Amino acid sequence: MGSLHYSFLVFLAILVSSANAQNGLHLPVRKDPKTLQHYTTFQMGSNRADINTVIDLGAEHLWFACDDYTSNSYSPIPCDSSKCELAKGIGCFGCSRTEPRPGCTNDTCASTNSNPFEEFLSGQGFYEDTLYTKDNVRVPQFIFSCSTNDYLRGLASGTIGMLGLARTQISLHKQVTGKLNLPDKFSLCLPSSGLGKLSIGDVSSSSKPDISPLLKFTTLIINPNSTSPVYTVGDASVEYFIDVKSIRVNGETLSVKDSYFSLDKDGNGGTKISTIQNYTALHPSIYKPFTRAFVKAASDMKIKSVAAVGPFRACFSSSSISKTSAVPTIDLVLPGTDVYWRINGANSMVQIDQKTTCLGFVEGKSRPKPAVAFPTTSIIIGTHQLEENLMVFDLVSSQLHFTSSLLANGKSCSRL
Ligand SMILES: *[C@@H]1O[C@H](CO)[C@@H](O)[C@H](O)[C@H]1NC(C)=O
Ligand SMILES: *[C@@H]1O[C@H](CO)[C@@H](O)[C@H](O)[C@H]1NC(C)=O
Ligand SMILES: *[C@@H]1O[C@H](CO)[C@@H](O)[C@H](O)[C@H]1NC(C)=O
Repeated sequence: MGSLHYSFLVFLAILVSSANAQNGLHLPVRKDPKTLQHYTTFQMGSNRADINTVIDLGAEHLWFACDDYTSNSYSPIPCDSSKCELAKGIGCFGCSRTEPRPGCTNDTCASTNSNPFEEFLSGQGFYEDTLYTKDNVRVPQFIFSCSTNDYLRGLASGTIGMLGLARTQISLHKQVTGKLNLPDKFSLCLPSSGLGKLSIGDVSSSSKPDISPLLKFTTLIINPNSTSPVYTVGDASVEYFIDVKSIRVNGETLSVKDSYFSLDKDGNGGTKISTIQNYTALHPSIYKPFTRAFVKAASDMKIKSVAAVGPFRACFSSSSISKTSAVPTIDLVLPGTDVYWRINGANSMVQIDQKTTCLGFVEGKSRPKPAVAFPTTSIIIGTHQLEENLMVFDLVSSQLHFTSSLLANGKSCSRL
């Protein structure tokens, strides 16, 4: 009787988990008001510990501090194994303590974990364990890397690692869609407040009748030169680039040489999407004409300029802006007829205080001379410009589907 009962329960559990799995994996996204970072929460291991990690579109894998992590379902990825090769592990990691635990095992596939906020790297080991979500989706043998609390400087308080969504074999979406047999697609809606959403596999909120008319699409392009701090010669970038051709301010195209927008033979230039960058960074040769055009267009709209507050270079008297949508529009112009990503209202402006509101873009790096190890990207689209926009990364057809601000249509990430 007892065993019948048990197998019935197991049967039910399998039914439930596969039913949920077909609907993809959905995670909540929150914004940390202090660092402005966006993070998500899932559960790992036999204790189903809550793990909060910062979302990083450009990072190769999941890593978190394992100091407080205990699980009896974890196992280390051996060095020289096929999984180690898949993870692009580099050599072997060992640990001199006697008791093995997550983060301290011998003959373990070594990983390089990057903390992009402090620009440091740490070498640790790869492990696998079961990943769970609150709605009971279960992803067995999920590959991740352990780090330690010493490497968390700069991360939002309460978070213990970084969640990689890049174009690699062990990024979150690649592992989840591979294991659950779903197409390699994910959608991301970063909230400005409240709860946003990260959906893997099933991106059906984008096909809802009230959302699909708002979506435009463009090709995701591959930068043939790696943009990671550590890579093997010949590796392509694992980040997401789009082919921005020009920028328009209130309908007027900026006069900037095309070569700043395109990728050169070493992978410099181009436009990428980043969840690590706060405010979109523009190459100095784009930033200067851009702010000039914006200030001019604002002045034509009777918006008064005031002294700039760093890191911004163009600021305005808040009282002269009637409502946030009444500022010059910014369009990132993409290939095709009439395809552009419009940035306006809350996505373009940053309120500093009651009196001052600034154009929320910053000056990026120019190309280094002599060239540093990895290329410099001309436009890095940051989270302030992405918030409350829905993005769908379709890696089956290599397309990015995107909306402008959902707020302008009476919607938001928390109501998808
Ligand atoms: C983002 O902005 C916050 C608040 O201004 C700041 O503390 C943080 O250093 C910024 N992060 C980056 C990567 O620029
Ligand atoms: C790793 O190997 C060393 C040398 O054999 C041993 O002293 C140590 O206890 C081992 N560590 C673990 C966690 O098994
Ligand atoms: C960038 O990639 C191209 C094509 O793979 C290669 O020919 C070129 O040498 C690379 N440049 C650098 C600086 O690695």
